Amino acid sequence: MKHLIDIENISKEDILNIINIAKEFKTGKKCSDVTGKTLALMFYENSTRTRCSFEIAAKKLSMNVINFDAGHSSLSKGESLKDTIENLYFLGVNAVIIRHSLSGIINNVLQLVKYPIKFVNGGDGTHAHPSQALLDFYTMIEKIGNVENKKITIVGDVSHSRVAKSNIALLSKFSADIHLCAPTYLQFENIEAFKVQYHNDVKEAIDGANVVMVLRVQNERHEKEGYPDSGEYKRLYEIDSKLLKQYAADDVILMHPGPANRNIEVSSELLDNQVGKTILEQAQNGVFVRMAILNTLLGDRNAS
Ligand code: CP
Repeated sequence: MKHLIDIENISKEDILNIINIAKEFKTGKKCSDVTGKTLALMFYENSTRTRCSFEIAAKKLSMNVINFDAGHSSLSKGESLKDTIENLYFLGVNAVIIRHSLSGIINNVLQLVKYPIKFVNGGDGTHAHPSQALLDFYTMIEKIGNVENKKITIVGDVSHSRVAKSNIALLSKFSADIHLCAPTYLQFENIEAFKVQYHNDVKEAIDGANVVMVLRVQNERHEKEGYPDSGEYKRLYEIDSKLLKQYAADDVILMHPGPANRNIEVSSELLDNQVGKTILEQAQNGVFVRMAILNTLLGDRNAS
């Protein structure tokens, strides 16, 4: 694994390797192989979990961290992302985490940069969020052992979700029984390209589900303001304790990548009870999974 751009282009072996290393970091059995290396966080879109957990992960690995401030950088004078990254490499940066609103931009820049700096996609537009899918997978394995033939239902704003795409790519590699639930206007346009079962009806979608992953309604990516209507969306798709208890498996795991819109896609009472705690554990696991990603990309085996 030379970079982490999407899930489609990494192997099952790479994924399991990251999961195992993350577990060793979490249980204190592994030490850093990347002490003294330097990471730049290049976030052109807002973030709490991804940005902070990569920073904490790097610091736990005794790396140096640069919080690149795009607004005060020479990008504002017209410098390209390629030139910026090549300069960072010569300043001593070994890896960059990039979050950007443009789908595919990280892959494009990677093709242009001539020097062996490592790239990690921290979420690009509606394309991919691979480290999120890896931490979600880690959390599922921790909670339910494995995902093979388990019913995993993703509910919400699927059409705008890089998290859904990366999760589907990963869970498909491990033969999960994947279900998607959204109103038609928030569903993938090319649904037939994905090996999933699609539902409009949330009760049918979560019936017997082992995992219910709720997605945020991404208002900032909707072209028309006030669409979808939040009242109607809540009435038809909000996940709450009653719905989970009535339809999902008894030991269902509730997940959400965050940030959550309380009382729109998920009820506040569910977020604050014991079932909702898994969502915070997801964020916590993100630190160990991101330690494993950095250690794998920058450790001696993968050194450039
Ligand atoms: N899940 C996720 O990507 O959250 P942030 O936008 O806060 O990083």
